[in-house]
Amino acid sequence: MKKALITGGAGFIGSNLADKLVEDGYDVTIVDDLSMGLISNIPDSKDIHFYEKSITDYTFMEKILIENNFDYIYLLAAIASVADTIERPYSSHLVNQEANIRILEVIRKNNLKPKRVIFSSSAAVYGNEPTLPKKETSSISPESPYAIDKFATERFVINYGKLYGINTAATRFFNVYGPKQNPHSPYSGVISIISKSLKSKETFTIFGDGEQTRDFVYIDDVVNALIILSNNDDAIHNVYNVATGHSVTLNEMINVFEKISGNHLNLKKDKERVGDIKFSKADVTALIGLGYSSNFDINDGLKKYWESL
Ligand code: UD1
Repeated sequence: MKKALITGGAGFIGSNLADKLVEDGYDVTIVDDLSMGLISNIPDSKDIHFYEKSITDYTFMEKILIENNFDYIYLLAAIASVADTIERPYSSHLVNQEANIRILEVIRKNNLKPKRVIFSSSAAVYGNEPTLPKKETSSISPESPYAIDKFATERFVINYGKLYGINTAATRFFNVYGPKQNPHSPYSGVISIISKSLKSKETFTIFGDGEQTRDFVYIDDVVNALIILSNNDDAIHNVYNVATGHSVTLNEMINVFEKISGNHLNLKKDKERVGDIKFSKADVTALIGLGYSSNFDINDGLKKYWESL
């Protein structure tokens, strides 16, 4: 039985990945301190082993890594909100960077040989540099503590791989949405916040004119991308944008969501969010080269998401 570790496995992306791995017959260990994740996200299965622990508990992490000798390690635990890392740059750094390097150190020092270690970086590394679409080779401009830690850790992960012979890879997620994204967090993605407003008839606040664009990618595409990166050796020591390759404005997305839900969204406008990126869109040619295709455009993705609610 293949053994996988998912840090942040009670979170949005991690728990959806856990569902898929369990379905595919993996033995899955989840480490999550439930600071953002929810215990109810974790699939109910005898093949899941859940530890309510922070990845900054180094003694625990070392023990679990050595004892289990995992085949696949998914580093998804993070302080996932840019705004949150601006509030607490140092404590978030300890999670977003330091704890991940400690994991790499355990792998290196103990000569562990996982088939893959995949780190989740972010489109935030591109910052506000305006050239679109973003390729993995586009210039980067990490501006927040979040983006700086994601970029630096991504480089550590890739180069630990090259220097010490570890099969590492990294993703740069764009705007991921879908089931299990916690809509009650103020740091949640805009689509989950809108879904909550559509259901409860609460007023949704749109920051700016709604003409900002995003490459919204449905969670099933993201899980599929993670599986591809796990199984295709060409992915080793490389970083990949994970997105659809298409973008829509917030206003367009809201229109589609209103039609699908049959509900009207009560809107109020507020000023643009500080540090907000105006336009975002990915080039996913590299990932397509590994066999990926995005199966959910915004219409299909929102439909599936709404049905799941
Ligand atoms: C997202 C990610 C972030 C990642 C970045 C990469 C989430 C929660 N954040 O940030 O981790 O680093 O992409 O580019 O997925 N908006 C509103 N009203 C709201 C909430 C948001 O109008 O109540 C607007 C925002 O101002 C923004 C857009 O919706 O223009 C998307 O916001 P959000 O979902 O928070 O994602 P990003 O800021 O793009």
